[in-house]
Amino acid sequence: MKVLLVGSGGREHAMAWRIAASPLCDRLFAAPGNPGVAQHAECVDIDAEDVDAVAKFAISNRIDLTVVGPEDPLAGGLVDRIEAAGLKAFGPVAAAARLEGDKAFAKHLMRQHAIPTAEARIFDDFETATEYVLTRTEPLVVKAAGLAKGKGAYVCNDPEQALDAVREIMKDRVHGAAGDQVVIEQRLSGPEVSVLAFTDGRTIYMMESAQDHKAVGEGDTGPNTGGMGAYCPAPVATDKVLGQVEREVLVPVVDAMRRAGVTYKGILYAGMMLTPGGPRVLEFNCRFGDPEAQPILMRLKSDLLATLLAVANNRLDEVTLEWDPRPAVCVVMASGGYPGKYAKGKPIAGIEAAESEPDVKVFQAGTKRAGGQVVSSGGRVLGVTALGKTIRDAQKQAYAAVDKIHFEGGFCRRDIAAKAIK
Ligand code: AMP
Ligand code: GLY
Repeated sequence: MKVLLVGSGGREHAMAWRIAASPLCDRLFAAPGNPGVAQHAECVDIDAEDVDAVAKFAISNRIDLTVVGPEDPLAGGLVDRIEAAGLKAFGPVAAAARLEGDKAFAKHLMRQHAIPTAEARIFDDFETATEYVLTRTEPLVVKAAGLAKGKGAYVCNDPEQALDAVREIMKDRVHGAAGDQVVIEQRLSGPEVSVLAFTDGRTIYMMESAQDHKAVGEGDTGPNTGGMGAYCPAPVATDKVLGQVEREVLVPVVDAMRRAGVTYKGILYAGMMLTPGGPRVLEFNCRFGDPEAQPILMRLKSDLLATLLAVANNRLDEVTLEWDPRPAVCVVMASGGYPGKYAKGKPIAGIEAAESEPDVKVFQAGTKRAGGQVVSSGGRVLGVTALGKTIRDAQKQAYAAVDKIHFEGGFCRRDIAAKAIK
């Protein structure tokens, strides 16, 4: 079959690697891909967010399955467009992707269905939001309601920080229209875990748990990023916790959507905090996490493409997922300055040397080809991922691989997976 993969990050490199390995895959295209993706796919120069152009390519090439990596084209209705043309796609339609793209919608849905989450208020103007913050004494989290590249949540220690966050989002509009509304919620505490599940709208099949590292600095300090590293599985996600998340979160969400006339198909990702009062939802995503996909797919032994196809065909009940028992750790190497301003175009050395170890993969994220070489072209540049007998061993392998790679200004967090080892 002919497959089109939409996206250009480390997640998509990992997806391309696994899709291309499927015996079902005759031809894999990527829009737009990157030099890592190009090891497995024919890259076409179409921006992932250009829904019209991607849909046109899929339709005119009679693509059998379009697999959408990132959230923007999902929220923009790419799957709706492809399905309307009688073709298949993996990912939720726009009405379902709202669960990620509109945090106010997600909060309402959770409130209506008693799904455990932080208490929150939603505001659509700066003055009222500010007045509300001034009446609060407890720690708050301020979030832009729309899509903000993973950078729209501000975890605040005091009211001044919360006021600054509201100002940045609503007045300075640093996230653009994503800041038309803000969600201001109670600050929770506890370990975090990402629970991802495939669903075809009826069957829900949980993947192995993972943990992201959102903050830029070691010890979870500094501003939030798209994710500085991840590991899989997350020891905090015991069977009991996962059972609870399935019963109290995943099942009610998919059911609620279906009752509202929306079949949720694709990946449902629940970002959870394990609070003393039980697991609470921090956010939903409607796709693989990036970088969670890298360690998760490193461990997936089953045919990814067959699974994606089963979801598209409403046959997820026929799938059994098998996992490599060894844990995986992914360390993100980022450009100096990220998540603020950073330089691009720095030549990257050592990828091949790093991948010379059998259980190491270097997933490329913000890279491009310039002249004969691979250079940096984004904030998160590489996701260096390793399997190991234990998490500690996987971590050791991942950092040994990181140490073979160099680009000017490049940095990483040195404590990825430390929480799982303590
Ligand atoms: P989000 O984009 O909503 O997942 O938020 C990004 C990150 O901010 C999460 O991974 C948490 O580390 C943190 N966060 C979000 N909501 C809360 C909350 N209510 N309490 C504490 N931390 C939070
Ligand atoms: N790593 C978090 C996300 O993909 O949103």
